[in-house]
Amino acid sequence: MASMISVSKNRIFSLSNRFYSYVFRVTPEGLLEHMYYGAPLSKPLDIPVHHHRTLRHAVSHFEGHEHFNLNDTPQEFPSFGTSDYRFPAIHGRNSDGNTVFSLLYKKHKITSSKPDLKNLPSARGGDSHTLIVTLEDPLHKLTVDLHYTIYAEYGVLVRSAKFKNKSDQEIQLQHAFSSALDFPPGDYEVLHLHGTWSREFNEERISVPKGRFVVDSARGTSSAAHNPFIALMQKGTTEEFGRVYGTTLMYSGNFALSVERGEFEDVRLLAGINPFNFHWRLKPGKSFETPEALHVYADQGLRSMSHMWHEFVRDKISPPQFRYAPRATYLNTWEAAYFDVDGDKVLKMADKAKEIGVDMLVLDDGWFEGRKDDTSSLGDWVADQQRFPSGIPALAKKVKAKGLKFGIWFEPEMVNPKSALFEKHPDWVLHVPGRTSSLGRNQLTLDLSRDEVTDYLFDQIDAFLSCGDVDYVKWDMNRNMTEVGSAGLAKNRQREVSHRYMLGLYKLLGKLTKKYPDIIFENCASGGNRFDLGMLSFMPQGWISDMCDPVGRLGIINGASYLYPLDTMAAYIGPSPNHQNGRVSSIQTRFMAGVFCAARGVSLNEETIDAHKDELKHLMALAKKTSADMVGGRFDRLINNGNAVCWQYTSRDESTVYLAYFHILAAPNLPFRRAHLTGLDSKAVYELEEDGSRFQGDALMHSGMPMPYVATGQVKDDMRYMEKGDFSSYLFVFRKEDKK
Ligand code: GLA
Repeated sequence: MASMISVSKNRIFSLSNRFYSYVFRVTPEGLLEHMYYGAPLSKPLDIPVHHHRTLRHAVSHFEGHEHFNLNDTPQEFPSFGTSDYRFPAIHGRNSDGNTVFSLLYKKHKITSSKPDLKNLPSARGGDSHTLIVTLEDPLHKLTVDLHYTIYAEYGVLVRSAKFKNKSDQEIQLQHAFSSALDFPPGDYEVLHLHGTWSREFNEERISVPKGRFVVDSARGTSSAAHNPFIALMQKGTTEEFGRVYGTTLMYSGNFALSVERGEFEDVRLLAGINPFNFHWRLKPGKSFETPEALHVYADQGLRSMSHMWHEFVRDKISPPQFRYAPRATYLNTWEAAYFDVDGDKVLKMADKAKEIGVDMLVLDDGWFEGRKDDTSSLGDWVADQQRFPSGIPALAKKVKAKGLKFGIWFEPEMVNPKSALFEKHPDWVLHVPGRTSSLGRNQLTLDLSRDEVTDYLFDQIDAFLSCGDVDYVKWDMNRNMTEVGSAGLAKNRQREVSHRYMLGLYKLLGKLTKKYPDIIFENCASGGNRFDLGMLSFMPQGWISDMCDPVGRLGIINGASYLYPLDTMAAYIGPSPNHQNGRVSSIQTRFMAGVFCAARGVSLNEETIDAHKDELKHLMALAKKTSADMVGGRFDRLINNGNAVCWQYTSRDESTVYLAYFHILAAPNLPFRRAHLTGLDSKAVYELEEDGSRFQGDALMHSGMPMPYVATGQVKDDMRYMEKGDFSSYLFVFRKEDKK
């Protein structure tokens, strides 16, 4: 592999592959100046320096260098206090008690193996090169290693920073961002994803304002309020046009993505741990590693950005053993029975699952001692003796004897005050002395910064999984953190707790998933309250939302798909009227909203299953038949105008192209819409499964496929129609004809 990293004699560094070039240099003063990030350049080391050193009025000059102020200098890892007034990537308190750090180039090295982070999840290497540039504050002997990894086959740049205290005095870190990107002046917009419980992943687009715009979390989870994702785009970017810079983090806790438009129209993007309420004491000789920040440059609109993310997440983040593994269809007990579960009922539901052709029975919340509602028992992971007298391993065996797989729900990070665990170890929860702890869903958060807590949890879960009959674990986490304090840490380290919690969680997940590599772990946090690449690096899929109403779900999947491949998503047919928003919709549309998610299933009670048996059988057979296609394929958002949504999904071998069309509110006299398919083979013929009609690839892409019409009046047979009324949906399946 030819090196993707070059360094010139005058210390210009370039990282360049077929997707992008990224260039910076060491200035004569020894600072790292950012020069370029964008489309690949043929001679990246030869680009002009855009930053002019000229007399500016009313500025401060950097450490006595005339006409050189950092406030308008694009940098790689800016600090505060030496003429830059923008939000810094590094900030803290040095051994003299002041907050001025000044980082200068010291050395660099290039490696062809991507170093893993020690205590945090990292993107896998392979076909990649990593540049490590060491900066040093010579006065305070703080070094920062900036890691940059470039891949031959992916448009993703991975960055992180490692701080090391080489002095004999303590240094305190407050801003320890993973990455900083300084963009030249321009007209930019930001797209980000915001929401709340059951309404996750709404997109908002805004022009980058003067000042600072931040999406972040201080909740202890990455959170549904703001997913850790931001796309900085050329103004007017659409799905197909425009330059886009996407950024995300491999982190599941308090993060910040900050976009600042400075006085000279420049834009600074910072990605990393949220500096608010963070404070890390770095003792002499100790180091601190940041989570990885991931950046994508895409020059053909949002779709091209999503393709790059999807491939990378699938190939370099998700557990590799599930990359192309078709997911089992499942029946989940939650919206079918809530807490009203027992051994007999579960076996009856297993029979129902069999009758409709589902592959797995998932026993959700409610199975452990005393858990009849959400007021008690989290923390005591022992099966309820009355309702599950023979225990979970025996039940799992019985379910499996019916020819099904077996899955189970845990919420390991939590404890109810009403539990044996809390009685025994009241100090094992996050809390602060002298204050009443705020409850969320009647529960407290266990203090995962403590080894004894993660060890306890490992043993509890291991006791179930070691029976060998568990195929799937739903790992839930149902509250945001409050009173974040730890009895296991000194007073002056309390602001380290949130990050130490994440280190503990990742250690626990690493240990469990390593011991049980064949069990599928599904990430859940009241739905999408912690859906991020950190969690997805241990768990190949997630429950993105508790919203299973199809209209709600469509928006959620659409938003999440900017970053996350649908391989990482699970969806089931829930009850109607929907339990969250009361909407009534057909089983077909409830299925269709999640039709391109890798994991599909149902959560319906026995009566409902009986009443709709044939339809459910048909849909579960369809899910099964398409399960191999729904991993590793390409997802495209074609139409999303508020009332009509059309998605395309192309199987990995490109032989099958699916098109899902949704019409939300019916109306008379509607336009005849077309969907312009994308990424097809222009010269190939695609045959429509339902009636054998044949279409040329270029015609489907350029002329477009006529979408079905919502029937309101008399139906004519030369058109395709959807169900009458609101919330209708339609699935096209095209097979590419073999060229002989
Ligand atoms: C959360 C999850 C649900 C379900 C319940 C169980 O709300 O998102 O899917 O598992 O917990 O209590």
